[in-house]
Amino acid sequence: MEQYIMKGGNPLKGEVTISGAKNAALGILAASIMTDETVTLENLPNVRDIRVLLQAIQEIGARVEYVDTNTVKINGSNISSISIDYEFIRKIRASYYLLGALLGKYRKSQVALPGGCNIGSRPIDQHIKGFKALGAEVRIEQGMIATEAESLVGTHIYMDVVSVGATINVMMAAAMAEGKSIIENAAKEPHIVDVANFLNSMGANIKGAGTDVIRVQGVEKLHGTEYSIIPDQIEAGTFMCMAAATKGDVLIKNVIPKHLEAISAKLVEMGATVEEYDDAVRVVGIEDRLGPTHIKTLPYPGFPTDMQPQFATLLALSEGSSIVTESIFENRFKYVDELTRMGAKITVEGNTAFIEGVEGFSGAKVSAPDLRAGAALVMAGLAAEGITTVDQIEFIQRGYEAFEDKLTALGAVIERIPVDDEKAVKKFELKVG
Ligand code: UD1
Repeated sequence: MEQYIMKGGNPLKGEVTISGAKNAALGILAASIMTDETVTLENLPNVRDIRVLLQAIQEIGARVEYVDTNTVKINGSNISSISIDYEFIRKIRASYYLLGALLGKYRKSQVALPGGCNIGSRPIDQHIKGFKALGAEVRIEQGMIATEAESLVGTHIYMDVVSVGATINVMMAAAMAEGKSIIENAAKEPHIVDVANFLNSMGANIKGAGTDVIRVQGVEKLHGTEYSIIPDQIEAGTFMCMAAATKGDVLIKNVIPKHLEAISAKLVEMGATVEEYDDAVRVVGIEDRLGPTHIKTLPYPGFPTDMQPQFATLLALSEGSSIVTESIFENRFKYVDELTRMGAKITVEGNTAFIEGVEGFSGAKVSAPDLRAGAALVMAGLAAEGITTVDQIEFIQRGYEAFEDKLTALGAVIERIPVDDEKAVKKFELKVG
């Protein structure tokens, strides 16, 4: 087990290159086994969630060959099982994308039932509703969810809640159904569009991804392709917040500025400077404290829930009173107690956090409760006075590629050391003075 140790106070300065989007890559990896031909994926982020899903598809017989750290070739012609073990779903919920992918290709699939997770209970009723509407029988037994269909037939599906996961899962199954499907009230996140573009590059016929209504004309077969995954909107947003929190000046490269609009708009509203280029954004902090704002998380193009902890942390260092309302997941303020230990003044009532900005944080020992909150705590540590340790960094490693390397290159003083290694802590303290 490892932890991050850091000395705060250095403004982040320089350039950082953003990796491929984890959440797009998860859908795309699952979809890539829907053909018997070889698929080459580029700009795949080298993070734990991706490595686990690659293992899961290898386990059922797909061939996976790494061309380099961020490029893989996948061949699903030798798949011998349609059943995904609990071991994988326990490590990464998105293994359930194999339900839709295998159902589309083989007309049956079986995946251990995902439980809740650290950010709340997470139902999958909309996934099930979509599969059933396409004609599949869906059974839940012995901790597994199993789908089976004699034939999958295109149909009209109305999603009762806007769900990224359900939209992707149902879109994959519909891509190989007979006839036309219409998915209404679909999620519009950039990764939905990326998965649809990827499927289309394999010969699928999907229109309208990125709008509320996705139209899928089923095809009999999909073919091999080469595809490069879009940049990670949330990794980019995290570095944007870090630049502002440390009063730095960072050019964030390999991004699609359009995907960052909700994030850029809030930073500008708070007083930071955001410059947009074709495929980069530059964020410049200010010497004074930033100003307050109110934030409510919403499905895209609204403010992303995956940026909520980073912004709450930034607002906790800004002037005045701010309110952050979490409307997607019920349990996403677990990091607040940790931030409080660093000096933040935040009270949580239900799904709302009331924040009174403070002048600064002081370093402390804190624990990452989940992926994005973990990144927010690292950001707090980099802005704080003194030394901070963040443990449970396995969560952070799920979704941030080479996190400490990228931060170090921007001037952060941060290292990865074993948990409970007092000697390593002392050594770091001596080194940084
Ligand atoms: C995805 C992202 C996650 C992000 C979230 C919201 C991946 C791998 N993860 O998660 O990082 O925080 O989108 O942008 O892409 N819901 C139901 N029934 C369902 C499905 C969802 O009620 O069948 C609810 C959920 O409880 C939640 C809301 O819908 O309140 C949105 O969830 P959803 O968009 O499905 O999130 P995920 O796909 O799990």
